[in-house]
Amino acid sequence: MADVYEKTTTAPVNIAVIKYWGKRDTSLILPTNSSLSVTLSQDQLRSKTTIRASKDFKTTRLWLNGVEEVNLENNKRLQACLRSTRLLRKEYENSLSSAGHLNIPPLSEWNLHICSENNFPTAAGLASSASGFACLVYTLAKLFELPTSITDLSRIARQGSGSSCRSMFGGFVAWEMGNNADGSDSQAVQVASETHWPELEALICVVSDLKKATSSTEGMQHTVNTSELLQYRISKVVPKRMHDIEAAIHARDFKKFAEITMRDSNQFHAVCMDTFPPIFYMNDVSRAIIRLITEYNNSGDGTYKAAYTFDAGPNAVIYAPKKNIKEIINLLAHYFPSTLDSNKEYFNDHACLFSAEERI
Ligand code: DP6
Repeated sequence: MADVYEKTTTAPVNIAVIKYWGKRDTSLILPTNSSLSVTLSQDQLRSKTTIRASKDFKTTRLWLNGVEEVNLENNKRLQACLRSTRLLRKEYENSLSSAGHLNIPPLSEWNLHICSENNFPTAAGLASSASGFACLVYTLAKLFELPTSITDLSRIARQGSGSSCRSMFGGFVAWEMGNNADGSDSQAVQVASETHWPELEALICVVSDLKKATSSTEGMQHTVNTSELLQYRISKVVPKRMHDIEAAIHARDFKKFAEITMRDSNQFHAVCMDTFPPIFYMNDVSRAIIRLITEYNNSGDGTYKAAYTFDAGPNAVIYAPKKNIKEIINLLAHYFPSTLDSNKEYFNDHACLFSAEERI
């Protein structure tokens, strides 16, 4: 039987607290501002990718959640990730053979069968492309046995989907926008590890698992082309927020972290609204969740108890200290009584499901 090489890895979802929205270079995927995210635990949300390489494969094929994707040649982002990792593999093969190693399989030239699946709704604003491309690039790097650093791999994942560069690390991760036109300094760096702030938890509220009407890729370029507010955001607001939230993370200062997170989510949706024609990602349930968290924060002693953030979809992610999670789940269950899931599961999974019709 012909040699078949196979690798499987998983990659986590990340949810930005300082949002990436806008590209200065759409083919290299270079952002108009730096961003920062929290990588979630893989227990609930993750992508899983298996890649096989064989010299007998006639073509490279891809299956996403069990369905084969056709016309891979037109998938520029996938091709960019394959090209970059194959190039690194080729260099590695050359270096091994010039060091006298024999029989190195030329994986850089073989076709691949790629099988990728998510255990959560794809394209519903839950960062499926982030974990998906991070997983693809990481699996390729393992299959090809590349001696490449994670930050270097993050620059490749970035060309699959911008936010995926941040899923290459656990913990708190910044995507530094960089200055170079070739993207050689636009990469992810870990700000603090996954063990740094164990009291901080994330609660995912799935308001709708339908595919969003305007993709992030499409939406953010409409914003770049039409929003005046975006220029203010990228030049005046984000640089200071990046600095301040990093300080809040290092100091485990939840009040500061929460305020910046909520303000940045609000401003991201404000630039979507300032896009012409406007883009709406949140729905009535999303706005009801904002009101609920605001009231909840006002009910305390001045210390924030929770922070909401919304990506390019109606689903909420709530960051909160562990000690408040049970109370927040009870509040959500009270105001959204016909939640689709059982209470028991909320407590175990820290994920809530809402039906999109509900109103507070
Ligand atoms: C709102 O990374 O999905 O989630 O680079 O075009 O693939 P592309 O966009 P994508 O955009 C994510 C936007 C966001 C904010 C964020 O994750 O920072």
